[in-house]
Amino acid sequence: MAEFKEISPDASAGEKLLNWVDNRFPASKLYKEHLSEYYAPKNFNFFYFFGSLALLVLVIQIVTGIFLVMHYKPDAALAFGSVEYIMRDVPWGWLIRYMHSTGASAFFIVVYMHMYRGLIYGSYRKPRELVWVFGCAIFLCLMAEAFMGYLLPWGQMSYWGAQVIVNLFAAVPFVGPDLALLIRGDYVVGDATLNRFFSFHVIAVPLVLLGLVVAHIIALHEVGSNNPDGVEIKGPNAPKDANGHPLDGIPFHPYYTVHDILGVSGFLLVFSAVIFFAPEFGGYFLEYNNFIPADPLKTPLHIAPVWYFTPFYSMLRAITSEMMYVLIACVLAGAFFGATRASLHKLVKGGIVGAAVVVSLLMLSIDAKFWGVVVMGGAVVILFFLPWLDNCAVKSIRYRPDWHKYMYGVFVVNFIVLAYLGVQPPSAIGERVSQVGTLFYFGFFLLMPIWSRMGATKPVPDRVTFTPH
Ligand code: HEM
Repeated sequence: MAEFKEISPDASAGEKLLNWVDNRFPASKLYKEHLSEYYAPKNFNFFYFFGSLALLVLVIQIVTGIFLVMHYKPDAALAFGSVEYIMRDVPWGWLIRYMHSTGASAFFIVVYMHMYRGLIYGSYRKPRELVWVFGCAIFLCLMAEAFMGYLLPWGQMSYWGAQVIVNLFAAVPFVGPDLALLIRGDYVVGDATLNRFFSFHVIAVPLVLLGLVVAHIIALHEVGSNNPDGVEIKGPNAPKDANGHPLDGIPFHPYYTVHDILGVSGFLLVFSAVIFFAPEFGGYFLEYNNFIPADPLKTPLHIAPVWYFTPFYSMLRAITSEMMYVLIACVLAGAFFGATRASLHKLVKGGIVGAAVVVSLLMLSIDAKFWGVVVMGGAVVILFFLPWLDNCAVKSIRYRPDWHKYMYGVFVVNFIVLAYLGVQPPSAIGERVSQVGTLFYFGFFLLMPIWSRMGATKPVPDRVTFTPH
């Protein structure tokens, strides 16, 4: 047990109370370590708003969610009506519901920006690999949370969206049909499905999400934040003052707490504008078909997931039986390329080619629908490996070869095109474009160990670049 700290009898009542608490709980220590003495690089830019904004949206979702649950009924016969009741009869219910539905889309916008920042500044690289890995786990949880939440209003899109996605699990060889049954709790999406999705959406996933966010921030504070220059401000050679504080850093509080108020104000302005003037956002945040109660006997003409899932949905749709031949060609070409590396033993080379042939045969014999699911899942899973795929000599995009910038530019455009195609009804041209887009998405990551090493990097400065303003 740590020794009790005595305090002068003349201290104020507040100081005495804090001393009493500090002797029992590390309140001041935590405050110092994570706020007033947490030194963050002084060159943070616009992109660094999105971490604190993600925290804000998380709080908004939890608080509005708690109030929604007070009137929502997780029952297939009552759910749709209870949401309408919240919208029309519960005082301020419409505001709480629109905050929650807009908050879901805002969460993904903020998190996509946050991830993009990590990508361009190399924030996932040593020593921040775990910060990134926890982030990817958060992203997966967020997708599960949004998917299950969308079933709750029990509208046509809730119902048929869940039907389409849960049926995908049935494509898994051997265990698929049982797995789909386990998820639904019934042979069709029904009351049992609604109840289990409700229980996961309101308690199980949020608990995991909160735990992961805490782990994400603890990991970040252990190694310190990266910055737009990718220069380590706390490294052994980084310049420090007499107290050992980094010269290129400033205490998080008050500097970044005040700075973040600007980001929060800007965000709340746009967030409120959407809630008050365009809560459906042209059918993108709340789909029009979801204002019709779920009808198991009437399949909507066009079923599309909400916009934030559509890049991944496009990749799923891109995997047709025709596309399987292209994927098999990629697997075989990759294996032959790997096997030609001189440094490998003959047996290993043979093993690689053999494994590729087995995988190709499996790809031919199992339905393309299953591989579509694998590709869709793989598109998220591959993000976890980013820290070990990037071999560039520098972290930040600022000092990478110019053509790397175009590469990242094309990556973003490709992601947006995939997202657009995912909301469109299937078409021949859309299918081709999404197939090319899927190949580019995976090529970007899988070939990164090679292309990230190519080209001349620019000299990285010793200190962060900062212009006082
Ligand atoms: C609920 C969702 C999330 C919350 C609340 C959250 C919160 C935060 C906060 C507060 C920071 C420090 C401030 C900042 O650097 O902006 C941060 C940093 C970071 N986050 Fe997240 N995050 C979330 C999701 C993610 C996801 C999905 C990823 C990536 C897959 C990610 C990757 C990172 C990285 C790499 C950093 C360090 C950035 C740097 O130092 O340059 N985060 N996060």
